[in-house]
Amino acid sequence: MDRIRVVGGNPLNGIIPISGAKNAALPLMIASLLTSDTLTLENVPHLADVEQLMRILGNHGVDVSVNGRRERQSDAYSRTIHFTCRTIVDTLAPYELVSKMRASFWVIGPLLAREGQARVSLPGGCAIGTRPVDLFIEGLEALGASMDIDGGYINATAPKGGLVGAHYTFPKVSVGATHVMMMAATLARGTTVIGNAAREPEVVDLANCLIAMGAKIEGAGTATITIEGVTTLSGARHRVLPDRIETGTYAMAVAAAGGDVVLEGTDAGLLETALDAIRNSGAEITVTPTGLRVVRKPGPIHPVDIVTEPFPGFPTDLQAQFMALMTRADGVSHVKETIFENRFMHVQELARLGAKITLSGQSATIEGVPRLRGAPVMATDLRASVSLVIAGLAAEGETVVSRVYHLDRGFERLEEKLTRCGAVVERITD
Ligand code: UD1
Repeated sequence: MDRIRVVGGNPLNGIIPISGAKNAALPLMIASLLTSDTLTLENVPHLADVEQLMRILGNHGVDVSVNGRRERQSDAYSRTIHFTCRTIVDTLAPYELVSKMRASFWVIGPLLAREGQARVSLPGGCAIGTRPVDLFIEGLEALGASMDIDGGYINATAPKGGLVGAHYTFPKVSVGATHVMMMAATLARGTTVIGNAAREPEVVDLANCLIAMGAKIEGAGTATITIEGVTTLSGARHRVLPDRIETGTYAMAVAAAGGDVVLEGTDAGLLETALDAIRNSGAEITVTPTGLRVVRKPGPIHPVDIVTEPFPGFPTDLQAQFMALMTRADGVSHVKETIFENRFMHVQELARLGAKITLSGQSATIEGVPRLRGAPVMATDLRASVSLVIAGLAAEGETVVSRVYHLDRGFERLEEKLTRCGAVVERITD
């Protein structure tokens, strides 16, 4: 199993290209199930989760071709990929595939909308809480589907004549359930109004792509999304938006390790709350014509309190990275996690580097320390693993992060991007 070795103490200087967003690419790829025409996605990141979803979509009958060729290897940072689902050949999404990645559960929406039925395994994914699917079930039931759980699978069946538009307000904000209900409603009869919808930029990106495919959607990016059902959707060409989590991660890495880095191809408007928190910690962030510039001059890191919230609040996917930054702050800071339970698994690993963090329920108190010292640590989930790399960059000596397959799910060529900026980061393949 690969490991990543980080030798800390070097500031980051240079340019880091930001990839297309994983969390946008996945639902966009799934949207290809809604049409028999070709959906072309540009700026698709090269990640383990994307490759896995290609395999899953292939099972349902989606023909995938990368940059016009059939092979799936490319040296480019991001790729253009064509997805064509002439017919859905199988409405079953098996446990072996869905358990590896939670987002693959989302195929349930398009399969149900286009074929009137789906049998989808209950999901797996990152070990960051129980992550139930009640909101998906309630949302699709509101559209007239009957949903039944048996043997670890959900059997979903649309009424005769297909799904029917409805008004439904989610009791809790869910990105995935908003994606699924929006996709399903594009092909339902009549109007659907989704209340308390997720406002994440990835929801807006999916809505924009669906609109390009012929869907009638208004209000994406607000808490109320209105969808007028259409009978068919066509192909489209769509560019995946930049990865705001990757952007925030590298900005926090510079804030922690010091240096001057331009994050190219990103958009500050995607993560203003997180950028404000980084600025308050003492880094300078300026918007450039092509992205962002992050500068941290030598001097103390200020303590900053954060609370994770649905967009536009501070993203839970940057919580671990921000905590890594705060371990070096000149004072005490607090982190409150409100989205997922059990999303503090990085705390005990950060402690191995000398961080002083105490947990109380969903809150963490971080007492900044003057120095961290490198140590062997273990990645526990996708975002937690990169927080250990950030801590390693800010620590003295050598940190070896094991179980980096978590990292490969969501960060494209991390070691290459950091090494080009002067960091000492290498992959050890056993
Ligand atoms: C997506 C992101 C993930 C991010 C999360 C929150 C992708 C591929 N993943 O995950 O990186 O951390 O949004 O921003 O885009 N919940 C229920 N019942 C449900 C569904 C969700 O209770 O049926 C709960 C979850 O357990 C969690 C909260 O709702 O506590 C938010 O989860 P949700 O927004 O659904 O996260 P994902 O879409 O899985």
